[in-house]
Amino acid sequence: MQTSEKNGVYISTYGCQMNENDSERMYSLLEMANFTPVTSADQADLIIINSCSIREKPVHKVYSEVGTYRKLKEQKPHLKIGVGGCVGQQEKDNLMKSAPMIDFVFGTDTIDQLPELVFRAIESKERQVNAKFEHRAPYHVETLVRNPGVSTFVNITKGCDNFCTFWVMPYTRGREKSRPMVHVLEDAKKLVKRGVKEITLLGQNVNSYKSDCGADFADLIEKVAQESGVQRLRYTTSHPKDFNQKLVDVMYRNQPVVCEYIHLPFQAGNSQILERMNRGYTREQYLERISMIKKSIPNVVLSTDIIVGFPGETEAEFEDTISLVQEVGFETIFAFMYSPRPFTKAAKFEDQVPEPVKSERLQRLFAAHDEMAMKLVKRYEGQILEVLIEKYDEKRKTVSGRSTQNKLLHLAGDASMIGKTLPVRVLQAFPNTLRGEILSTQDLHA
Ligand code: SAH
Ligand code: F3S
Repeated sequence: MQTSEKNGVYISTYGCQMNENDSERMYSLLEMANFTPVTSADQADLIIINSCSIREKPVHKVYSEVGTYRKLKEQKPHLKIGVGGCVGQQEKDNLMKSAPMIDFVFGTDTIDQLPELVFRAIESKERQVNAKFEHRAPYHVETLVRNPGVSTFVNITKGCDNFCTFWVMPYTRGREKSRPMVHVLEDAKKLVKRGVKEITLLGQNVNSYKSDCGADFADLIEKVAQESGVQRLRYTTSHPKDFNQKLVDVMYRNQPVVCEYIHLPFQAGNSQILERMNRGYTREQYLERISMIKKSIPNVVLSTDIIVGFPGETEAEFEDTISLVQEVGFETIFAFMYSPRPFTKAAKFEDQVPEPVKSERLQRLFAAHDEMAMKLVKRYEGQILEVLIEKYDEKRKTVSGRSTQNKLLHLAGDASMIGKTLPVRVLQAFPNTLRGEILSTQDLHA
């Protein structure tokens, strides 16, 4: 590969929003280093697999994807293949040992050194690893997105100090660090200038955010809502144990910029399971937080994450999860079968729940939720919602966007509507989407 020419880079991304954001960052950094993003692996001179280790069989996925590039590598001996993300962080030694086609491995804390690593791999012709955590370095990064579009994400924290027993991330993304509030605000202002209408502040546990100036998460929300000029502000993910009255008050005070939607994972409805998960709250404490939220933000819409079949979960304990879903009235749930992850405590618990039991419980949970959600969302029918149009589908001649409640809508429309907030009458409501009609093409924010 000639480093003085433009070379094609292809990044294959798995996993969460944080990984998507990291891939954007990699593309941006590599573009500055004279690489050109391409849309398929066969056009590339550099292929990066940005891996994820939450639930899938992560290492296998990496190996099998690398395997698919064997032919390409034979045709183009200069092709370099790298692995980053959580699997890179966690499995660096194994990857280097058992996959000779991999030219370099990097971690979640060393993305900013990626161009240097790539050049070292090219120039020295030796395989490279760079997966150190920089524990003492402050978290100072600028959001790098090539085409931010209408709605985009801004990282505010990285890592996590909670050590939930099912969760691998503290081992793949390190201790929690927060970006300074002034940096987040600067990022938001720049993105707004580039046409962004909606920002989602991103972190594993956003409400334990602490800026070096002393500002907490509620202060940050208020600052960005009031000073960045952004039309809509969201955040994810928040943790029940750190959710407080101050945050709820700030959210309410800053509506409609701050959306009335909260994603608050509870994971399990039984206090004993929660304790074994090391979540730091009981069922009763979770419900107290929910009633505080509902009292202070009457129009709030809630969603959650749930794990079924955590080690030792009995039938009765699982029933507590279903009853919590019903008691709170979540409009949306994201539910997963428990999957043992390497290095985690729960993977070593002896009373693992058999796969068929997990799978049956998951189906039962979805069925119970569907029935409830179907009734809950009926109230949207006939309502007029403010929908921020994000995309246009040329084939179907439809646009799609979200309401402030985070409801997804597909509507008849055209490309000129992208970026506008339009009034939409809801015709029919389903648990995950709403069908509706656009009442006016005049941007409500114009
Ligand atoms: N930081 C967030 C979690 C983000 S991960 C929080 O604490 O809420 C997204 C979701 O994946 C989690 O909420 C959990 O429901 C699920 N998840 C994480 N580890 C898992 C595992 N080992 N098995 C199954 N689901 C898991
Ligand atoms: Fe942290 Fe637990 Fe979430 S360890 S990232 S709060 S799952």
